[in-house]
Amino acid sequence: MVSRIGKEIEISPVELASQIAKKVKINLASGTPDPKKIPLNDIREAYTEVIEEYGAKVLFYPGAGGQEELIQEIDKKFLNLLGITKRKDEKIVITSGAQHALELIGKYFLENDVIAVENPTFIETFNSLKLRSSSIVPISLDYDGLNVDELEDILKIVKIKLLYTIPNCHNPAGVNISECRRKRLVELAEKYDFYIIEDDPYRPIAGEVPPPIKNFDTSGRVIYVSSFSKIIAPGLRIGFIIANEQISEKISLLEQLDFSTSTINQYVVARLIRKGMIEERSKELFRYYGEKMKILIDSLRENGLNEFDPPKCGFFLLLNLNKNSWDVFYKAVEKGLSFVPAKPFFIRGGETMARLSISVASPEQIVEGVKILSDILAR
Ligand SMILES: Cc1ncc(COP(=O)(O)O)c(C=O)c1O
Repeated sequence: MVSRIGKEIEISPVELASQIAKKVKINLASGTPDPKKIPLNDIREAYTEVIEEYGAKVLFYPGAGGQEELIQEIDKKFLNLLGITKRKDEKIVITSGAQHALELIGKYFLENDVIAVENPTFIETFNSLKLRSSSIVPISLDYDGLNVDELEDILKIVKIKLLYTIPNCHNPAGVNISECRRKRLVELAEKYDFYIIEDDPYRPIAGEVPPPIKNFDTSGRVIYVSSFSKIIAPGLRIGFIIANEQISEKISLLEQLDFSTSTINQYVVARLIRKGMIEERSKELFRYYGEKMKILIDSLRENGLNEFDPPKCGFFLLLNLNKNSWDVFYKAVEKGLSFVPAKPFFIRGGETMARLSISVASPEQIVEGVKILSDILAR
C-alpha cells in the first residue's frame, strides 16, 4: 500500500549512532555544533527584539521563498563573508536548513535519473537525492577533493543529470576541493550538460578556503546551498539556496507544499546577521574547532593510529580501522564511546572506515575516546 520511497526509507547510521551516543559518555558521533558554542543569550535577545519590533507579523505563516528581511541581510552581508558573487539573474530562496534545500532540489530535478556523488558522501543529504534517482555514480575523493579526471572519464560514457558535492570541510572526509578542480568542475558541467549542487554548510566556519564553485559559473549550472546550522544553531533550521531565477522560482513554489521554514526564526537570523554576530563567530569557531581537531589528530598519532588524511576544517575525520567498523563500534559502545561506522557514507568500499567527530566532545573526552579505540584495535 505504500510508495517506493515509503518502502525504501530506513534509519540512517548517523541517527542510529547519535541515538546510541546519548547513552554513552564520549560522543565522537554527532555532527551537531558544540552546545557550549550555541549563542543562547544572543538568540534570546533576538527573539525579544523581533517580537517587539514587528509584533505578530513574526508569527504569521512564512511566505514561500523566504522573508524579505532575511533575504536582504544575506544578500548585503552574509554573501560577502562567504566570498560569493551572486549574479543578477540569481535569487536566494530560504529553506529549513541545507537538508530541506537538498530535498527541494531533489524534488525539482529528479525522477529516476542518474546522479554522481563523491565516494564517500554525506548519507543524510545524499539519501534524499538517492531516493529519487535510478543510479548513482560514485567518484573518488583524494586530499584535493573530488577526482575530476575520474569524473570526466565517466562522463565520456555515462550521462548524468546532477553532481552532488560538499566542497569544504567534507562530511565525512574533512577535505576541501582545490581551486583548479572547482574551475574544472564547472567546465565539465558545461561540456557534459549537467548541474552541480554545491552543498556548503561549513564555509562560515572553514577559515581560508578557495572561492565557491559557484563563482566560476557563468551559465547557471551551479546551485549553491548554505546554512546557519554550524555558525549559529541547527535547531533554528534556517539555510538557503542560490540559483538562477528559473530554478529558484520553482523551488520556492515547491516550498508551498511543506511551508516548513519558521517565520520567527528567519527574523531572528536576519537580526543576528544585522548585529554583526556572524562575522565575529566565523573566525572564533574556525579556531575553536581547529584546536579540537588538532587534539584528535595528535591523540590518534600518539596511539599509532595513522591511517587518515588530516582534515583541513570542520568536524570530521575519516579513520581506517583496518577492521570491520560496526564490530569495533559495538565494542566501543560497551566501553562508553560512540562514533559513526562510515560504510553507509560509501557507495563503494568503506567497510573498515570510521567517522570521528570533534564537534561536541571536550578535549579530555577526545583523548580518552581515542585511547578506548586504540585499546580495542590492539586486541
Ligand atoms: C554536508 C552537509 N550538508 C548538509 C547538512 C545539514 O545541514 P542543515 O542543518 O543546514 O540541514 C549537514 C549537517 O551535518 C552536512 O554535513
